[in-house]
Amino acid sequence: MVSSSTHEIFLAATPGLERPLMQEAVERGFSGATVVPGGVTVTGDWTEVWRANLLLRGANRVLLRFAQFPAVHLAQLDKRSRKLPWADLLKPDVPVRVEATSRRSRIYHAGAARERVEKAIADTLGTRIDPEAEVKIMLRIEKDMCTFSVDTSGELLHKRGYKLSVAKAPLRETMAAMFLRECGFTGGEPVVDPMCGSGSFVIEGAEIAAGLAPGRDRSFAFEQLATFDADAWQRIRGTIETGAPQTLFFGFDRNPGAVDAARSNAEAAGIADWTRFSQATVSALKPPPGPPGLVIANPPYGLRIGDEKRLRALYGSLGKVLMERFSGWRAGIVTSSQSLARATRLPFEPAGPVVDHGGTKVRLYQTAPLK
Ligand SMILES: C[S@@+](CC[C@H](N)C(=O)[O-])C[C@H]1O[C@@H](n2cnc3c(N)ncnc32)[C@H](O)[C@@H]1O
Repeated sequence: MVSSSTHEIFLAATPGLERPLMQEAVERGFSGATVVPGGVTVTGDWTEVWRANLLLRGANRVLLRFAQFPAVHLAQLDKRSRKLPWADLLKPDVPVRVEATSRRSRIYHAGAARERVEKAIADTLGTRIDPEAEVKIMLRIEKDMCTFSVDTSGELLHKRGYKLSVAKAPLRETMAAMFLRECGFTGGEPVVDPMCGSGSFVIEGAEIAAGLAPGRDRSFAFEQLATFDADAWQRIRGTIETGAPQTLFFGFDRNPGAVDAARSNAEAAGIADWTRFSQATVSALKPPPGPPGLVIANPPYGLRIGDEKRLRALYGSLGKVLMERFSGWRAGIVTSSQSLARATRLPFEPAGPVVDHGGTKVRLYQTAPLK
């Protein structure tokens, strides 16, 4: 039996992409979607937790908050942790790990707090504590308030389950999907990525157009919890409507290894019929036949000194090709450098928010349909 009580569910976002994740959650019918630091909160029962893991393209992980109490010293944390209904959440035979953080609190030693919670779980339930366990309990202590969550995702959700081959500097699938959304892409138009690397934009675009759930091919930590109901989960998976996209999705790269990687990723994702990958340099780029759509790319950034000068020519050539050959198409460029974005000479709208791409600060620069 799945408990139908309502919980606070936290959707962790890529910093800078909270807003499109909130919009996605609203569109997918989640209740109470609110942007908070680091992500979006929604409310719902366990079936909503499963649905969020399965459907949301912009969430990095889904946490369920299950307890909160104040504690000012470790003995108090210990005593109250032992009273939590662990058996409702965890299975005695599934190992678990605990992560703790502490900020502006009298319990300042996060490691000691973690040990108390680990011991409370082990003593009350007999569950084995294993630092490698897929099931993770997260304790956040902030201003003496202890908040307990369970990570229901396990492996981060950008791991859709298909990526066998990774090219250089890949964009996480969660980021690629949210940048597509920020460009107004909803699945009905072609996408061209002239520097596709391992193909994240092209594959996410084709999947969105086909109505495929990003989590369809992977497992989740929630399947290991006491709250899991395999029949109800299968019913949720069965409600997803898919259909052949009305258009094709194109990736180009000058590096043949990247093209091979993108192609095998698309095959593994089951969307190869709607994607086309070819080796080509930006200067040879031409629009595919048919109606215009979206050109989106994250070109190399050049983080080392001296790179930027060389890359100006590449960005300049991309801008020139788009202006000359891609009339009616919109362009979206993800880059860490405003001056490189300017080197395209494309008529960009004001840049999007700063987004954290594994420590590099990037922004999306996008245009209206090119004249
Ligand atoms: C930052 S990576 C793109 C990563 C990609 N978005 C992904 O998710 O895997 C930049 C790509 O641009 C390609 N590239 C660099 N110069 C190019 C050029 N002149 N023409 C085409 N591709 C180029 C590189 O081979 C590299 O794969």
